[in-house]
Formats: sequence, structure tokens, C-alpha cells
Amino acid sequence: MSEPIAGEPIAGQPIPSEPIAGQPILSVENLSVSYGRVDAVRNVSFEVPAGALVTLVGANGAGKTSILNAVSGLLRPRGGVIRFKGEDVTRDPAHKLVKAGLVQVPEGREILGTLSVAENLSLGGWHRGSTLAASVARVYERFPVLHERRKLQAGALSGGEQQMLAIARALVAEPEVLLLDEPSMGLAPKIVDEVFAVIAEIRAGGTTVILVEQNARRALAAADYGYVVETGAITHSGPARELLADERVIEAYLGIS
Ligand SMILES: Nc1ncnc2c1ncn2[C@@H]1O[C@H](COP(=O)(O)OP(=O)(O)OP(=O)(O)O)[C@@H](O)[C@H]1O
Ligand SMILES: [Mg+2]
Repeated sequence: MSEPIAGEPIAGQPIPSEPIAGQPILSVENLSVSYGRVDAVRNVSFEVPAGALVTLVGANGAGKTSILNAVSGLLRPRGGVIRFKGEDVTRDPAHKLVKAGLVQVPEGREILGTLSVAENLSLGGWHRGSTLAASVARVYERFPVLHERRKLQAGALSGGEQQMLAIARALVAEPEVLLLDEPSMGLAPKIVDEVFAVIAEIRAGGTTVILVEQNARRALAAADYGYVVETGAITHSGPARELLADERVIEAYLGIS
């Protein structure tokens, strides 16, 4: 077991702000997801206040992606209710939710490697019509390297650049809520720092962020609230800095990340 880290901020990480009160922009009640006879998610409930950075942390196979995919409309839950901006969106498909402002950056990035960087970005804003160009210009300002490489095949980018492209593609949709599924996966430590810096910037710009990570310590250090997911259920929740200081959470999750 590694040493307890008792809520210390990690070097280079912004210290999370105090929890934000107010209406949740997203709420999930008693969500269940099954794949045939496999119950991957059982009665999961959580709330995301507008403007907050909320993280779902947990080990491999805990059900984090299943929760995100149900929230973003990529899979139909077996039970439960998902509300976005006060409306029941439980049965809404992903494309409808993207238009409404809820956009996911999928696990494994899923950029289209044979298309150019610019084409990948345009796909992220398929529904934006005449406002697409302005949104793409804004993401190029934020990610100058993508502007430099806009004509290259996306598959020729480095892993870190591909992750930035996946995030940028979601930003082109101008989300109110951005869901990120393991954005640091497989990246070198320096690039992980850059990804977390971008996430902090996005949140500072007013976008609500739901971050799924196996890198629990890092994610909790960046977040306002945290939920620990264990074999399909939420076992701990609270302000992220309290979870970071919670011995049970440290023992169960932070020693391994
Ligand atoms: N398409 C599928 N068909 C059958 N079982 C699945 C499917 N997708 C996920 N599962 C199972 O559901 C459970 C939760 O998986 P999920 O991918 O949601 O976990 P996770 O927390 O995202 O894991 P990881 O950290 O590895 O990404 C696991 O037991 C997994 O094997
Ligand atoms: Mg996953």
C-alpha cells in the first residue's frame, strides 16, 4: 500500500474551489445498465451542479464507461432516470443530447485516423451549420498545434495530440456539459499534465465537466466532487478533497493509481 496522501494538492494542480451550491445541471437517479445477463451498473445516483467538475473514479471494469454511455445516450439504460437541465432525457439518443449541449469524449478517443484534423473537428460540429467555422476557429486558438496540423491525417498525430483532438472535437459542439472518459489513458506523464491543464481551463470557462478516471488521485485533486464506483455501484461520494483525505478511499483506490 502506498503512503496516504491526505488531501495534499498534487504539484502543478490547481487547488479545487469550494463546492458550488445550486441546481444540478444533470441528475442521475437509480441508473441500471445491463449487457444481457451482466448487470454492469446497479442503482447508481449522482448529481452534477452547473459549472462543477465532478469525477467518477474506480477500478477497471467498475462500470464507469457504462454510466457515461448511458448518460450521453450511447446506450439505453435498463432502469433509472437521467435529467439534463431539468428535462427527462433518459430515452434521448446521443445526437439529440449533443444538440442539447451534452457531449462526450469517448474512451480510447475514437478519432477518425484517415480523415484530416480539420475534418475530425467538422464532424464534432455536424449540427452547427453556419456557426461551425467560428467554433472551429475558437478551438484552433485554444489548441494551436491542431491548427498547425489541420491538414494532416489525424492518425499521424501523437497520442497526446490525438487526445487533444478528441477533446477539441467535442468542444466544437460548444457543450454545456462535457463528459470525458479516461482522457489520460496511455499518455506520458508530461502529456497527462497537459490534459489536466486543458480540463481545468474548460471548467474555468464555465463548462460543467464529468471526468471518468482510473487515475483517482489526480482526478480527485482536480475535481469539486467525487464518486467512487465499485462493481457497478457508488460506494463513496463527497467533496473531492474529503475523498482524497478518506482513508477507506485511499486504501481501496488511491494506492493503486
Ligand atoms: N459491451 C459489453 N458487453 C458485455 N459486458 C460488458 C460490455 N461493456 C462492458 N461490459 C462489462 O460491464 C462491466 C463494466 O464495464 P465498464 O466498461 O463500464 O467499466 P469501466 O469502469 O469503464 O472499466 P475500465 O476502467 O476498464 O474502462 C464490466 O464487467 C465489463 O466487462
Ligand atoms: Mg471505461
